[in-house]
Amino acid sequence: VQRDNCILVIFGASGDLTRRKLVPALFSLYEKDLLPEKFAVLGVSRTKMTDASFRKTLAEGVEDAEAKPDPDDFRKFAKLLFYLSIDPGEARDYGKLSKRLKKLDESLKTGGNFIYYLSIAPSMYEVIVENLGTAGLQKEKKQDQAYKRIIVEKPFGYDLESGKALNKKLTKVFREPQIYRIDHYLGKETVQNLLVFRFSNGIFEPLWNRNFVDHVEITASETVGVGTRGRYYDSSGALRDMVQNHLLQILGIIAMEPPPSFDSFSVRNETVKVFQSLKPIAEDEVDQYVVRGQYTKSQINGQIIPGYREEEHVDPFSRTETFAAMKVFIENWRWGGVPFYIRTGKRLPTRVTEVVIHFKRTPHILFQHKKDEQAVPNQLIIRIQPDEGILLNFGMKRPGTGFHVEKVSMDFHYSDLGDTSLADAYERLLLDCIQGDPTLFARGDAVESCWRFVDPILNRWQNNPDETIYGYPAGTWGPRQATHLLTQPGLDWHYPCRNLVEDGL
Ligand code: BG6
Repeated sequence: VQRDNCILVIFGASGDLTRRKLVPALFSLYEKDLLPEKFAVLGVSRTKMTDASFRKTLAEGVEDAEAKPDPDDFRKFAKLLFYLSIDPGEARDYGKLSKRLKKLDESLKTGGNFIYYLSIAPSMYEVIVENLGTAGLQKEKKQDQAYKRIIVEKPFGYDLESGKALNKKLTKVFREPQIYRIDHYLGKETVQNLLVFRFSNGIFEPLWNRNFVDHVEITASETVGVGTRGRYYDSSGALRDMVQNHLLQILGIIAMEPPPSFDSFSVRNETVKVFQSLKPIAEDEVDQYVVRGQYTKSQINGQIIPGYREEEHVDPFSRTETFAAMKVFIENWRWGGVPFYIRTGKRLPTRVTEVVIHFKRTPHILFQHKKDEQAVPNQLIIRIQPDEGILLNFGMKRPGTGFHVEKVSMDFHYSDLGDTSLADAYERLLLDCIQGDPTLFARGDAVESCWRFVDPILNRWQNNPDETIYGYPAGTWGPRQATHLLTQPGLDWHYPCRNLVEDGL
């Protein structure tokens, strides 16, 4: 019997995440023959459905996904999907859940291993955890080694206080090693590659510090607006939605010390140390370090793009930021004094997530450069998505008379690897949880440290409702005030493409 065999219980099984992400990821694992030998999904939610109608809804979700599934394969896979209609908020319904799990477990021989996935509104997290605890469904029996795990989706709270309260609730019922907090950025192949790139090459690590690095940029830009998620987004904003989790996790990997070994304990200890070393931004310093913005109506390629305040379920006077840029320092020996610039926003000109390491310029300029350029800066651009790859910029002699320097680059694209397609983040993370490897999941202390860092910024904005929030036309790189964060002369953000906005509105 495989140790991984299990039943995955999805709370919120009738929801969008299950249909769009979880089940297509599980199906892809099934097609690659990576699922455990004995495996089943038990979808749970209030919607009345039978196993058959649940399977049918999910088949449509998989068909919507990019790669069309083989219908025969999906039919076989669908036999692993079951459904139970209960109210997850009602403690008395957990008897039914317990009974159904026991029956499935006995017939499928999944060894009493259950994973609970909270793919449901965060307001339900605490009550579900409590109900699981009351029903004893979290208990791991010593004698048969059966495991019980819980996967939690972000947001892990709303601020430091609620983040701590959620952790407290989770750890009252489950032990920390049973808790898998999903940050889907850690499931991205290219984010994991940051670890391999840094710690499997001898040539970069000696340069990876304040002696050689001038500054670092981390950008996650999106072209989409808030779409149908206005209700959620308007109470969240870019800082909570992207910075507190995804971008700080990337920062953690970029800035961490080499771990003593590659196991979840060592790796996560090192990233937590980075979060604990973030130089706090006090409430009265927020203006100096953070710029926030909100997209306004604009016209791109003849198409009118609505402003954020006109979006569905968004307060017409909303002061929620759809763009945030910040200057961050890490107070430790490796990074003391090196600015890390973080930027994210919706309705920017292109969808890109990338890290740019800007190395220091040569101390003395010997050669002629292009007009206005003092020297060719060496940049290492790590493209997380799309067109995943790594690019190194450096100076070379322009052929011909004299000694003129030209900027050139060496680049690697994942697409050059031919048939290596990049798996979806959920695929990797679900498999890791099934196999009991929490390395790519956020640990409770990391989440709290990240909240501790962003909390004063959120407080400042909350306590000063009249504080400036800059408008930026959809299709531009956010408010130009973001450039003022880069205080060194001549410095600007790295722009992967131009502004798209048209004049005339
Ligand atoms: C989610 C945010 O966590 O990440 C969304 O809630 C955002 O607002 C998304 O669009 C971005 O993820 P990705 O994988 O498309 O970069």
